[in-house]
Amino acid sequence: VRSRIIGCGSYLPANVVTNDDLAKRVDTSDEWIVARTGIRQRHIAAEGETTSDLAYEAAIKAMEHAGVTADDIDLIIVATATPDNTFPATATKVQNRLGVTGFAFDVQAVCSGFVYGLTTADMYIRNGQAKTALVIGAETFSRILDWEDRRTCVLFGDGAGAVVVQAVEGQGTIEDQGILASRLHSDGSKYELLYVDGGPSATQTVGHLRMEGKEVFRHAVTNLAGVIREVLADTGIDASEIDWLVPHQANRRILDSTAKKFGISPDKVVVTVDRHANTSAASIPLALAEAVHDGRIQRGDIVILEAMGGGFTWGASLVRW
Ligand code: ACO
Repeated sequence: VRSRIIGCGSYLPANVVTNDDLAKRVDTSDEWIVARTGIRQRHIAAEGETTSDLAYEAAIKAMEHAGVTADDIDLIIVATATPDNTFPATATKVQNRLGVTGFAFDVQAVCSGFVYGLTTADMYIRNGQAKTALVIGAETFSRILDWEDRRTCVLFGDGAGAVVVQAVEGQGTIEDQGILASRLHSDGSKYELLYVDGGPSATQTVGHLRMEGKEVFRHAVTNLAGVIREVLADTGIDASEIDWLVPHQANRRILDSTAKKFGISPDKVVVTVDRHANTSAASIPLALAEAVHDGRIQRGDIVILEAMGGGFTWGASLVRW
């Protein structure tokens, strides 16, 4: 048994905040933000709108696209670093709203969360414990930003994306639709470069995101290239055969530099960072849903999903769409 992605969907909160809007709150400018990051705007959740609300909306769309109902789903994984509550898992809230039986849990790998979640679902499907899984990346990073800190508050946004992953009989070949390879990495020694300075056990507060941007940038470029090389080597697929790069959307310069390293032309990179900013675990499924629904990604395409985030954590999945 192996697994394939049979549908995807996404959801963005209605409220759009432009760079000019932010310039009214902190000492920044549209020019600075666009030049350094490529970000022009971000969506911010309304008061009372939580991560599970965004996750639920994205899940409904992914299930519709996949043509499955709640009865078909036997596993829900929500990748998030901004759960509604310390516990229960946001995934169980989504499970309840969808009316799904089976099991549900969250994974926490910050911006790499979607790749971790997809890899985890793939494992449950391969060992027969699940047949149809919902993997959702959902975040409300606006709730953990220090809105006085111009170095970080301009970079992030809220949103959710989801995919339905389903078992297919047989081992398949690299020509067959499916998740062909995944690799995950973590390095806890880089904790202080990107973290939240709160939490239930440490401070009994929610805390705010803290980041050494330049250092994160440097590690991201190196680590992402390394993990993409690994999934290519695992499958014997050459970089020239990649049809679409669907990266975690942190920063336009990281995307461009990663694509350049592998000789991937800019029009083969799915970019949403200009409109969504960095939505952490939600960014890959948001970008994927956009490129699938507008017809760019076609059946049979080789698609690479990759991400790097706090921890550090990083990973990649190579998918035959
Ligand atoms: N507006 C105006 N000026 C700013 C802003 C802002 N929003 N933010 C910082 N500056 C200023 C700084 O204060 C500094 O001024 P100084 O020289 O007077 O001290 C100057 O701009 C340069 O600051 P740097 O931090 O050196 O700027 P840099 O070119 O590194 O860009 C950035 C910062 C955009 C954060 C970049 O380092 C980056 O993108 N890093 C990657 C981080 C990232 O994407 N993290 C996401 C999570 S992890 C992941 O998803 C990969």
